[in-house]
Amino acid sequence: MSVEQRITYTAQAGGCLTGQVRVPGDKSISHRSIMLGSLSEGTMKISGFLQGEDSLATLKAFRAMGVNITGPDKFGNVVIEGVGMHGLKAPAAPLDLGNSGTSMRLLTGLLAAQGFDLTLAGDESLSTRPMKRVTDPVIQMGANIEPNTNGTAPLTIKSDNNTQLNGIDYTLPMASAQVKSCVLLAGLYAQGETCVTEPAPTRDHTERMLQGFGYTLEVQNIDEQRRKICLQGGGKLIACDIDVPSDISSTAFFIVGASIAKGSDITLQHVGINPTRIGVINILKAMGADITLSNEQEVGGEPVADICVRYARLKGIHIPEDQVPLAIDEFPAIAIAAACADGQTILTGAEELRVKESDRIQAMVDGLQILGIDCQGTDDGMIINGGTMSSGTVDSLGDHRIAMSFAMAALAAQGTITIKDCANVNTSFPDFIALAQKTGLNVSSSSDSSDDKASS
Ligand code: S3P
Repeated sequence: MSVEQRITYTAQAGGCLTGQVRVPGDKSISHRSIMLGSLSEGTMKISGFLQGEDSLATLKAFRAMGVNITGPDKFGNVVIEGVGMHGLKAPAAPLDLGNSGTSMRLLTGLLAAQGFDLTLAGDESLSTRPMKRVTDPVIQMGANIEPNTNGTAPLTIKSDNNTQLNGIDYTLPMASAQVKSCVLLAGLYAQGETCVTEPAPTRDHTERMLQGFGYTLEVQNIDEQRRKICLQGGGKLIACDIDVPSDISSTAFFIVGASIAKGSDITLQHVGINPTRIGVINILKAMGADITLSNEQEVGGEPVADICVRYARLKGIHIPEDQVPLAIDEFPAIAIAAACADGQTILTGAEELRVKESDRIQAMVDGLQILGIDCQGTDDGMIINGGTMSSGTVDSLGDHRIAMSFAMAALAAQGTITIKDCANVNTSFPDFIALAQKTGLNVSSSSDSSDDKASS
């Protein structure tokens, strides 16, 4: 019988956010640095690696495939002895990727033709998320992958007859960096050219990092929205050190918290401001937020800056749809900003939110309604009428970003907000409570253990 920890957050009303802080490393870049570092020739060092459960799941997966990885130490330093493109070994057991959609989707491509069989498994939430979006193109390239009949994990990849992948010219059915990256990583092992066309710009860390490791890519802007990325299979990766900037997605909770709490004045240091990730800044600025960037510089192929945020009166807007993929993980936090804004905020074109770690449209609407906010979900978004949040108990549904968003909401609420099921904050932001307390949020975490008979 296993024992499951239930974590509840209690956030007291009021306060403001001040000081200078550095939030943990970028999750997307941390995952990719382990993947490409492991496949490279030579030894590489990662600094600022995110020590969250998701990126650690990727790290452990590569260790299980025979890669010698040292760390992370308490500063997030990791050293990887790359094994080259064909040096991975069959893992002894299914790779457990926990809650991490990025690990599962990217590894589906990267491990599609390694010459050994393996299974990719995840937790209950990850095992309900759609995987056909990655298995379809990789199967078209020649891979032998068996998902469950409903297209979900666990995924079994059969490669014992030395599967040979062929290049593909693939148009993504949705704007997804995970699917794009999956196909490009499979393309490294394919014969000929692999091209991916995306309907709108999505995070381009895979492309930047591949180039940083010496791999040639061709990137063509078809029009203002669509981009086509092509690479030739059969190349190699040369080890290259990575300095991981702070994650703008984790920073977003503090940007929203400071924007809604009178008296706030906070600086978030060394944050990744890749243009494909800064939708949250563009959207909040359009709502009237007081956000300024300084110390802008380029570190290891990624732009970074310090972000200063002061309280400002926000107004509701219709969020431009071209900003949606650029802020896809930040809508739980943006919904809190909208709940505090004057007037109505309308989000459209964001149906992907329904298949994240939770159905984020439903989770935010349910929670905000409990707190007395007039809002409703639509098929592809939300309509939120700004108001005053009361006290209440909300459910994060085990989704890290829902939990942290409602914790920040307390800064502008009239009473205590209690948030249930917060253990998964550890997937992306292990020090959230300490950092939030340090900057002025009156939040605490409590745990109780319950026997989980189902997993006995
Ligand atoms: C990610 C891409 C996004 C994002 C996820 C991380 C990545 O997912 O939501 O948290 O690292 O590539 P989609 O590609 O499904 O939009």
